[in-house]
Amino acid sequence: MKIAIMGYGTIGSGVKEVLDMNRAQIEKKGGEGIEIKYILARKEHIPGVEDALVTTDFSVIENDPEVELVVESIGGIHPAYEYIKSCLEKGKHVVSSNKAVVDACGSKLIRTAKEHNCNFYFEASVGGGIPVIRTLYHNYAGENVTEITGILNGTTNFILTKMREEGSSFEDTLKEAQRLGYAERDPSADIDGFDTSRKTAILLSMTSGNRCRHEDIYTEGIRNVSDIDMAYAKALGYSIKLLGSVQTVEDKYFAYVAPMMVEEQDPLYPVNGVYNGIRIVGNCLGTTMLYGMGAGKLPTASAVVSDIIAAVRHKNNFQGIGWSDKMIEIEPMGGNAF
Ligand code: HSE
Repeated sequence: MKIAIMGYGTIGSGVKEVLDMNRAQIEKKGGEGIEIKYILARKEHIPGVEDALVTTDFSVIENDPEVELVVESIGGIHPAYEYIKSCLEKGKHVVSSNKAVVDACGSKLIRTAKEHNCNFYFEASVGGGIPVIRTLYHNYAGENVTEITGILNGTTNFILTKMREEGSSFEDTLKEAQRLGYAERDPSADIDGFDTSRKTAILLSMTSGNRCRHEDIYTEGIRNVSDIDMAYAKALGYSIKLLGSVQTVEDKYFAYVAPMMVEEQDPLYPVNGVYNGIRIVGNCLGTTMLYGMGAGKLPTASAVVSDIIAAVRHKNNFQGIGWSDKMIEIEPMGGNAF
């Protein structure tokens, strides 16, 4: 299968690295003949990449019938949405790692994929390398999921972990996270909880089967967590974690994103540093805990590559991973959370 990678930052270049590094494994698992035909980049030269692969022109990719799958790792909503939609309309499978576009436009893109009998996959949009999207879609298909609560942002978990371990202030720890390259220069999306809220909305859409808006989720970040809060939590045997949580109570959906006290017995308690953890509660399965690298080049790229292989395996049929156009209402808080 000939593919194109749109966006060649950390994730896009990671996808090429994983495809090259694990080629033998990938071929054994059904991913025979995956070949990168184009890389869409801002400049015509990418150090270490053959010039023949690089294009700055999206129309070359959308109009090439040989390209059967496109990886979108541009980020943001525009032009990612228009590019993805146009590829799906031409019957090309699309794999995206972009939570912003999946959260804002997921239902339209899933519908477009269905109409054109191709697939839109987005495993890497939540939890980086942690396999949560397919787990909810396949393994929890027969469950009544009553709760999903996760540490879904590596940057804020790194900061909160350091504050707890070292007794340092939020401001000093944020500076250290920026120096180490975990936090962006403008860290707002992570620190103020919006990255977690988009991922929480995707998890709620996956589990409810319907669309929701991350703007409707009560969202509070970690800016106001002080070293004194952390010291008290520690003395009482708790940790403070930024949680994204959804709960289903009868036919009502509750969701929040907020820094919360987490007790020692909770499987989220030992999730430290840049790791993510996701606790899923179902009425038959009880509690399942997913834990792993929620961000970073190779873990996230590995999830993208798993989606590419799924597309090769399901080349001729729409798999239906996702949710419907019907919008659900989210209650701001409730369930067992507050
Ligand atoms: N900024 C995100 C994080 C990247 O820190 O988890 C992965 O979505």
